[in-house]
Amino acid sequence: MTITTQPASPEHIRLGIIGLGNMGSSHCRLIESIDNIVLAAVCDIDSARLAKIVSRYGCQGYATSTELINAGDCDAILIATPHYDHTTIGIAALKAGYHLLVEKPISVHKADCEKLIRAHRHPDKQVFAAMFNQRTNKHYQHIKQLIDSGELGQIRRISWTITDWFRSQRYYDSGGWRATWAGEGGGVLLNQCPHQLDLLHWLFGMPTALRAQGHVGKHHNIEVEDDITCWLEYANGATGVFTTTTGEAPGINRLEIAADRGLLVYDTAEGKITLLKNDITVTQAIKDNGPFEKPKSTRIEFDIIDTGRQHAEVLENFADAILHGTEVLAKGNEGIHSVELANAMIYSALNGKTVKLPINARRYTNFLKARIRQSTVSKPQGNTEITDISNTF
Ligand SMILES: NC(=O)c1ccc[n+]([C@@H]2O[C@H](COP(=O)([O-])OP(=O)(O)OC[C@H]3O[C@@H](n4cnc5c(N)ncnc54)[C@H](O)[C@@H]3O)[C@@H](O)[C@H]2O)c1
Repeated sequence: MTITTQPASPEHIRLGIIGLGNMGSSHCRLIESIDNIVLAAVCDIDSARLAKIVSRYGCQGYATSTELINAGDCDAILIATPHYDHTTIGIAALKAGYHLLVEKPISVHKADCEKLIRAHRHPDKQVFAAMFNQRTNKHYQHIKQLIDSGELGQIRRISWTITDWFRSQRYYDSGGWRATWAGEGGGVLLNQCPHQLDLLHWLFGMPTALRAQGHVGKHHNIEVEDDITCWLEYANGATGVFTTTTGEAPGINRLEIAADRGLLVYDTAEGKITLLKNDITVTQAIKDNGPFEKPKSTRIEFDIIDTGRQHAEVLENFADAILHGTEVLAKGNEGIHSVELANAMIYSALNGKTVKLPINARRYTNFLKARIRQSTVSKPQGNTEITDISNTF
């Protein structure tokens, strides 16, 4: 197959979905209400699941990703399989010339991300996007605009507590690949938090160092991390704390940004952004003010209620990017940052060491391989081999 340039129809793309579990089947449903996408083909190694979706949507069905890729029924492919397969299937799809949308995380570890990104050799002709649906939330978009425009001034401290990812033991027991080093490649940082780690990078860039404290199986009978608190340091001297767990309820999703021009808080339960805006910068107040004289601050509540159309918006944007060259909301290659942050936090927490970024991809891969070797959990089904990294360096 040659590299795809333009789908046959100017109105819609023909999409193939690989992996029809919770997320893949939800995407199939969603596409029914999306004008610029037609569900052309699906694939799952679970034949009963595949048959159900094929009969419901009347599309082509394939038992393997290779068959779907070789069939040529689609312009684009969405991968919603367990994590390791994102790399292997993603590379095959890109090499075959398909536009590609990958569920988060784009890969399990940095070296695999690099391999996947390298396979995207024609970015001018081929759209490669990642399912970071939280980027459609207008609150985060507004926060980004406040940061990028300089309205907040220099950032001094970030604190993100994202502990409303509660999952029960039954959730972890629902799939053999879940919460295993061989199947999922990590826990809360690899499954639930890729969204916030993506936003962390999108809003603030990458830290230069971090130190995480964490636990594997603190709240659940699992071999991967379910509780992490991480200290972050940035090149401009800003610091941060990122806290997450799947073992707390009700939990909270609260982002605080202490900047030179004030304090911004976005708490998703409150559903609004509040900014306490300083009349003068903290830098100036430290230099000029009396001993206890804080800058005066004014409370601003931003009138935003729109949390975005999430997965539907990412899907539509992906199709628009293919059909009309619209800018991609979350480019696939940006997916490496959330993976690198997750890898660094896991490595730091489990080795009790401060980690400097960028991390050494090979060292992390070897660490992960050792975890897989030491695992006592039986191997999940599917292609869960950690991919060969011999060509990476
Ligand atoms: N963006 C989001 O909001 C969001 C939410 C949940 C899950 N996810 C992501 O979606 C992906 C899938 O998660 P899920 O919860 O749907 O998992 P799941 O276990 O419910 O479904 C995975 C499906 O993939 C199939 N599969 C496994 N290996 C395959 C292969 N090699 N080829 C074809 N099919 C294969 C399985 O049979 C299963 O049907 C993960 O990357 C997960 O992190 C994203």
